[in-house]
Amino acid sequence: MDLESYVRALPKAELHLHIEGSLEPELMFALAQRNHVALPWRSVEATRAAYDFSNLQSFLDLYYAGAAALIHEQDFYDLAMAYFARARADGVVHAELFFDPQTHTARGIAFDTVLDGLERACDEARVQYGISSRLILCFLRHLSEDDGFATLDQAVPHLNRIHGVGLDSSENGHPPSKFARLFGRCRELGLHVVAHAGEEGPPAYIVEALDLLKVERIDHGVRAAEDPALVERLVREQIPLTVCPLSNVKLCVFRTLGEHNLKQLLDAGLKVTINSDDPAYFGGYIGQNFLATAEALKLSRAELKRIARNSLEASFVTEVERAPWLARLDALPEN
Ligand code: HPA
Ligand code: ZN
Repeated sequence: MDLESYVRALPKAELHLHIEGSLEPELMFALAQRNHVALPWRSVEATRAAYDFSNLQSFLDLYYAGAAALIHEQDFYDLAMAYFARARADGVVHAELFFDPQTHTARGIAFDTVLDGLERACDEARVQYGISSRLILCFLRHLSEDDGFATLDQAVPHLNRIHGVGLDSSENGHPPSKFARLFGRCRELGLHVVAHAGEEGPPAYIVEALDLLKVERIDHGVRAAEDPALVERLVREQIPLTVCPLSNVKLCVFRTLGEHNLKQLLDAGLKVTINSDDPAYFGGYIGQNFLATAEALKLSRAELKRIARNSLEASFVTEVERAPWLARLDALPEN
């Protein structure tokens, strides 16, 4: 089996995917036309050409601009169904989707419009593609904790459809400590908790996410490598890291994929996973992230299997759901 086929054959969970970041320019333009929304770009080609980022903020500015095309329940459904079709082709058996309600409610879109469309797509993905999924509500960290509490109030009637919360957007200057009370409340409500930390921000933000937010996974976390005591702790506690290699290169966290520290983290004993983050913006879905990283870092098939296993183990599913995926993974040869 060639490497590309092998990567696709691995049963895997995607644990770090912003659904708004899977909005391909073609769909963005189709929705903008359908909804009579003006975009800052002239064409699909001009949009793609603008995807040349220097850091996280330079990406976020475009990502929020693109999300303006999403207005109706059907738009959120179409967006998520397009993602699920790509995920299925990449061997994803389970996906935990981040969504950013504040990006939409700030534009006057009802919380329920967003959730209803995404939820309907999750149901349809199970029927059509056999993919299981969960929704994780992300709070925007550049906004206030009070804004986060107001968003949580809107989510509370729907907690049967929301599995967890996360923290995303501009990291530097917005440490996890800013959201300690909000995350405490979310934990009391029985929600799973994760947070972006150590993408651009310092290792201290990862420590805060663990100690103050009590997160179960760290999104990105690659800057943990700068703090040996933190690496030791992450290994000891087997805290999963949802690493997004192509994203890290696009946002200049690493200059090239060959310089990415994923293998170093894996060799240290960390529970590393591979994910796509915002695939429409960063040049590849999860399969491409696996493949390009495997090639650049010369990962063995045993290592790729380990990474896929980590993703299944780190997912917020029951043992009963996980067991058949693990059995399929175990049955896959290492050559
Ligand atoms: N980091 C922070 N916020 C984000 C990201 C990311 O990689 N993608 C979408 N929102
Ligand atoms: Zn992210």
